[in-house]
Amino acid sequence: MAPRVYITRRLPQPALELVAAACDVAVWDQDEPVPRDVLLAAARSADGLLTMLSDRIDGELLDAAPGLKVVANMAVGYDNVDLAELRRRGVILTNTPDVLTATTADMAWTLMLAAARRLVEGHKLIEAGGWQSWSPGFMTGHDVSGATLGVVGAGRIGGAVLRRGRGFDMALRYHNRSRSPELEQQTGAQFLPLDALLAEADFVVVAAPLTAQTRGLFGAREFALMKPTAVFVNVARGPIVQEAALYQALRAGRPWAAGLDVFEREPIGADHPLLGLPNLVAAPHLGSATVSTRLKMATTAARNLVAVVTGGAPLNPV
Ligand code: GLV
Ligand code: GLV
Repeated sequence: MAPRVYITRRLPQPALELVAAACDVAVWDQDEPVPRDVLLAAARSADGLLTMLSDRIDGELLDAAPGLKVVANMAVGYDNVDLAELRRRGVILTNTPDVLTATTADMAWTLMLAAARRLVEGHKLIEAGGWQSWSPGFMTGHDVSGATLGVVGAGRIGGAVLRRGRGFDMALRYHNRSRSPELEQQTGAQFLPLDALLAEADFVVVAAPLTAQTRGLFGAREFALMKPTAVFVNVARGPIVQEAALYQALRAGRPWAAGLDVFEREPIGADHPLLGLPNLVAAPHLGSATVSTRLKMATTAARNLVAVVTGGAPLNPV
């Protein structure tokens, strides 16, 4: 009998075909998240699940899925998964590293440039008929070229953000759980304690995973350490930042601006307080959102799923 798997979202066709060739597959064939009760019911008979970061994979779900061997999460992050509960039951977790590194680093740069050069504010101003003339002080921002870039969380994505900084003649700083001689050698980036990095950087980019250690890492104290001209960017996970503190900090003008791809509770609506601030650029969690990268993420998750349910080794075990 072919292994039974459940996929929690509509996937690009090549990824689906990869799974269907080896498995008895059922799909929540929608662009919206699978309802919890549907997922719980589908998990009951599943050998494997291919999941999204919006699916909560916890003890309750695992209790409902006695035959489960693998959760293939279509993301590099896996804070939606209770890893301890999986380990306790011997269920394998896989993720999709590497394939999204460059694309997500590009997103960090999109937000850095957009926030520093007031792109969204300018676009809105034109739309509102507010563009009067060229003038010396009109909508002036801050230079990216030649500035100091500080990356917090210098793994694959953080490293790629730093490498791009070389092309902009930036001074490179990073903070990480542990120092990386390899990264320092590759990029010339200098390791700093977090507080020192926050005080020195013109651009602070967060690329750390969400863990017990990074949850709420950025609060009023950290924002107060930043330069009044600093730009703060988060392409990692919303809960690393205390959003209410960021709101107050941006209102007070320190940091000077922020670019966020992630939020404490996603999705956010038009009534979110941060959206009322002119110095905030928001994106709806688009870090890995290119056609090519999403296809690679889907096929990577599919290959991991198939490998484990057919008795092989996972390609990207967590
Ligand atoms: C997206 O946020 C991911 O973790 O892949
Ligand atoms: C994720 O890929 C990271 O290491 O930043």
